[in-house]
Amino acid sequence: MIILHMPYCVFSLSFSIGKCYGTAMLNRNRLRIRLIVLIIPLVVAVILGSGIFASLEARKALVRVVNRHMVYKAEQLRDYVTSEWGILNELDLDAQQEYRIIAEESLKSYAVSLLRGKTENIIAFDGDGNVQMRIGYGDFPDPEPWSGAQNYESLHQGWFSGTLHGEKRVGVAFDLEAFGWTVLISEGEEAYFTEIQEIRYTYFWILASTIVLISILIAVYLGYIIRPVEHLTQTMQHISSSQDLSMRAQIESTDEIGFLADRFNSMISSMQRSYMDLQHARDAEESSRKTAVQRELETLNLLGRVSDFRDEDTGEHLRRIGSFSALFSRLLGQTGREQDLIFYSAPLHDIGKIGIPDSILLKPGRLTDEEFEQMKLHTLFGYNILKDAESEYLSLGARIALTHHEKWNGSGYPEGLAGEDIPLPGRIVALVDVFDALISERPYKRAWPPEDAFALILEQRGKHFDPALVDLFEKNFPAFRTMLGLPDFSLES
Ligand SMILES: [Fe+2]
Ligand SMILES: [Fe+2]
Repeated sequence: MIILHMPYCVFSLSFSIGKCYGTAMLNRNRLRIRLIVLIIPLVVAVILGSGIFASLEARKALVRVVNRHMVYKAEQLRDYVTSEWGILNELDLDAQQEYRIIAEESLKSYAVSLLRGKTENIIAFDGDGNVQMRIGYGDFPDPEPWSGAQNYESLHQGWFSGTLHGEKRVGVAFDLEAFGWTVLISEGEEAYFTEIQEIRYTYFWILASTIVLISILIAVYLGYIIRPVEHLTQTMQHISSSQDLSMRAQIESTDEIGFLADRFNSMISSMQRSYMDLQHARDAEESSRKTAVQRELETLNLLGRVSDFRDEDTGEHLRRIGSFSALFSRLLGQTGREQDLIFYSAPLHDIGKIGIPDSILLKPGRLTDEEFEQMKLHTLFGYNILKDAESEYLSLGARIALTHHEKWNGSGYPEGLAGEDIPLPGRIVALVDVFDALISERPYKRAWPPEDAFALILEQRGKHFDPALVDLFEKNFPAFRTMLGLPDFSLES
């Protein structure tokens, strides 16, 4: 029964160890697995080693007991023969065959009395290997002469173990000099060592049970020790991956690990407070920044209206110039920031008109050449007013103010720049300013029909205006028309 269960038990144990190591290889970064892999094999090795050592020592002890038992019988037998032989010598009968036979028979009957176990045997053979005496209860084969003697040729006097007729036997050997015999008192090894085997099986079960039990205890105990560390690690991982500073580690004990968890929680609380302070500071800064931007844009709007105040241009014109220019910027593929800049800067194009005398600026009729020369100066005035500002809006406004009357063919003012020497924002505002002025009603003129204004822009392609911008304007006219709120009309008309 035990033998039937042993392979299954060994297999189960090997499978468990293999599985444990397999898991360990997949989870080498886990502290719990690393400790289990380290400690359990160590404990198993110690238990197995001590068990095997104890088993070997038990076998040695039993062998010594058997040895003494057999030696005792051998001494008894030898003493008996010595005594009998002494009597024969005293009677001077040793040479007589009949007395020798009597002595032998007497020896045999004494030998029988020595045997106890069913597998014990006493066998004596002469110098030629012929069996002279064979006494035993076992089913002993009967070859004559005894071939087993050859197995014991090298047999020295004393304890032996060997194979006799295919059976493993242990015992003692000694010489009966009076008869010239060698006598073996032996016992089947199995009879003695069956008990050893049983001890081994018992050991095996004790060892296997102990190993399984201790392995389970180690795993459970390590789990108990490591669990708070794992919880702490999971909390750290969660916080680092989710940035959720409201989470806290669970404090499960008052030992060092509990202390670590407590310190960790304090640290996270401190971080959370700092983070919230930072967030509030950021919100306040963002609010201040938005307010500053709002103020700047308000100022820009007011600046635009300053020029508007002295001119016939309406606030509506300025608003449309900004939107019109920003749409151009978007169609040119410029960034949102660039679109924003031109949206707020374009309305400043005529801010220099505040330096032009009313007599010229508000003159209802046509300007003289001299007056027109003075009128041209509004570009330089505007540039000088805005050029030193650090604001990006005002800097761009300065460039637009300076260049919005330049013409693509170089016939504009104040510098007579031509082509791409004119900054792009100046070229854009030149086009949108003229178009919007044409379609707007002024005290000295009626609003042009949009198709006529559109035709003029196309006609001035490459003369007054950048041909690429005119093409873009033409191609996307529906978008400009919608933005300006103009009625639909056929472009061919
Ligand atoms: Fe102007
Ligand atoms: Fe204008």
